[in-house]
Amino acid sequence: MNLTLHIWRQKGPSDPGRMVTYQAKDVSPDQSFLEMLDRLNEDLILRGEDPVVFDHDCREGICGSCGMVINGVAHGPEQTTTCQLHMRSFKDGESIYIEPWRADPFPVIRDLMVDRSAFDRVISAGGYVSINTGSAPEANSIPVRKEDADLAFDSATCIGCGACVAACKNASAMLFTSAKVAQLSRLPQGQVERKRRVLNMVEQMDKEGFGNCSNYQECEAVCPKGISTQNITVMNREYLRASLSGA
Ligand code: SF4
Ligand code: FES
Repeated sequence: MNLTLHIWRQKGPSDPGRMVTYQAKDVSPDQSFLEMLDRLNEDLILRGEDPVVFDHDCREGICGSCGMVINGVAHGPEQTTTCQLHMRSFKDGESIYIEPWRADPFPVIRDLMVDRSAFDRVISAGGYVSINTGSAPEANSIPVRKEDADLAFDSATCIGCGACVAACKNASAMLFTSAKVAQLSRLPQGQVERKRRVLNMVEQMDKEGFGNCSNYQECEAVCPKGISTQNITVMNREYLRASLSGA
């Protein structure tokens, strides 16, 4: 298939940036979206032009690096990561618009690559268990209800990709933050820092400039891991409880 690509090119954080049009020829429907960009970059290098900069790492849908907005939708037309999106999702002759995540807390480094270290700082504010739990205990020595284990696991599947922020009109990071808060609040190991965690993570989230949730639900619609907005309800409840207890 042959495609017309309109790609955001930006030399650095202070460069105004612009859309540049490229033709991609003989694209296989079985290529992944990133392989299609790799091919384009090979052509650009052969022509002596700068390749398009984009983030990627695992290419298996588990690291959360490869975020970009494709035809106005975070990660493109399928509910998956960009590395797991295949060109068969597009039609021969189609025009594809490719842009970086657009949110103030995610400044563009170059082209499609953004700085998502704000997420790392939110996690550093409390998204962990710091008590020394020793070596792995026998699996049944700390009972966890099956329902809690399943819900905690669902929340733990967040890969920190940032699509939820990119899709939200408010650039809210509540889906991401709430996934970690909800996961740890359901497990015995998460109880010690439970109150401090939610207060500190929400405070850091606000400090980074992420907006609030107004229930657009766009975050859940684009999340490649199907993280539910129920996590936000859990986080709001945890936050209220921690605030009222004077933690
Ligand atoms: S909640 Fe979903 S969209 Fe947001 S960072 Fe986690 S995996 Fe990505
Ligand atoms: S490159 Fe790791 S999730 Fe896409």
